[in-house]
Amino acid sequence: MNRSICVLPGDGIGPEVVSQSLKVLNAVADRFGHRFEYEEALIGGAAIDLTGDPLPQTTLDLCRKSDAVFLGAVGGPKWDQGNGPRPEAGLLGIRKELGLFANLRPVILHPQLSGGCPLKSERVAGGVDLLIVRELTGDVYFGEPAGRGCEQGLRTAFNNMIYREDEIERIARLAFKLAGERKGRVCSVDKANVLEVSRLWREVVIEVAADYPEVELSHLYIDNAAMQLILRPGEFDVILTGNLFGDILSDEAAVVSGSIGMLPSASLGEEHALYEPIHGSAPDIAGRDLANPMAAILSAAMLLRHSFGLEREARAVEQAVSAVLAAGFRTGDIMEPGMRRLSCSQTGELICRKINEQD
Ligand code: IPM
Ligand code: MG
Repeated sequence: MNRSICVLPGDGIGPEVVSQSLKVLNAVADRFGHRFEYEEALIGGAAIDLTGDPLPQTTLDLCRKSDAVFLGAVGGPKWDQGNGPRPEAGLLGIRKELGLFANLRPVILHPQLSGGCPLKSERVAGGVDLLIVRELTGDVYFGEPAGRGCEQGLRTAFNNMIYREDEIERIARLAFKLAGERKGRVCSVDKANVLEVSRLWREVVIEVAADYPEVELSHLYIDNAAMQLILRPGEFDVILTGNLFGDILSDEAAVVSGSIGMLPSASLGEEHALYEPIHGSAPDIAGRDLANPMAAILSAAMLLRHSFGLEREARAVEQAVSAVLAAGFRTGDIMEPGMRRLSCSQTGELICRKINEQD
């Protein structure tokens, strides 16, 4: 198979974890007889520094003509001051421009990492394997009008929380389809006791559910969902929710997995797809070969699965990551007594070696 990947290293630890992921993709290509071609482009703070724009047109053009997009991380304190362009605008812009309406965030607690989970062991005894399906191009993130105003001489600010029924329907369909391939349960999260937007959300989700009789649907209010996620994380299968609630719940779920450095994500649209680790640019450890590349490498596995249909290859990557953990190797974020500490690049190399050793 011949495929092109647009690579957006971004800021902070982005370039480091991306370069380890490309090593792993190359190991997969060699092992299974594929050819992946990479073209790099600018996004985030790196793009602001060189062009003044967090999402240059050339980057968008390259993304549009590639078979998949692979991103590291954006942001950092350097771009936090003042009223200049923000790196995050590059990320929000690319989601909107490429129509990436579905963000999939699988949360798995690897048995070897249960010591890093902040919950009492009995709460996660049965394991955790859930999938957050977050709507990514609507909600209060993009609603118009948004801006600043003035009331009786006092400053105001406003963002419009808005969903159109077709936006809810398409993300709900995907959640039900994915649940059908997993444990067959969708939990839709909203705030329908307060928000009109959530009442429409719930109405549409219930309508869609009628087409998937084999999938069981439940509903939770966001506040309760936040609580249930730490009381009984093992009982969730697919969590379906909007952009803002999904942003919050996915960080909460991430910490259950032991380290945010372990969690991959896929952002899918009708025509394009982008893969990135959930973690940010971690400026405090950037450039020191300390980062955990596993979230990025597992995102590359999602790319192989969802964009290229290479299930066997995706599993090979996931198994190699598990094998490295099982052999007692750890980066700093998941280090525990008795384990052997590895740098970012050593982790990438070891994962490649495990891929080559698989039979
Ligand atoms: C995420 C991030 C982004 C979001 C930020 C960086 C704009 O938190 O991908 O979860 O809010 O969606
Ligand atoms: Mg977030």
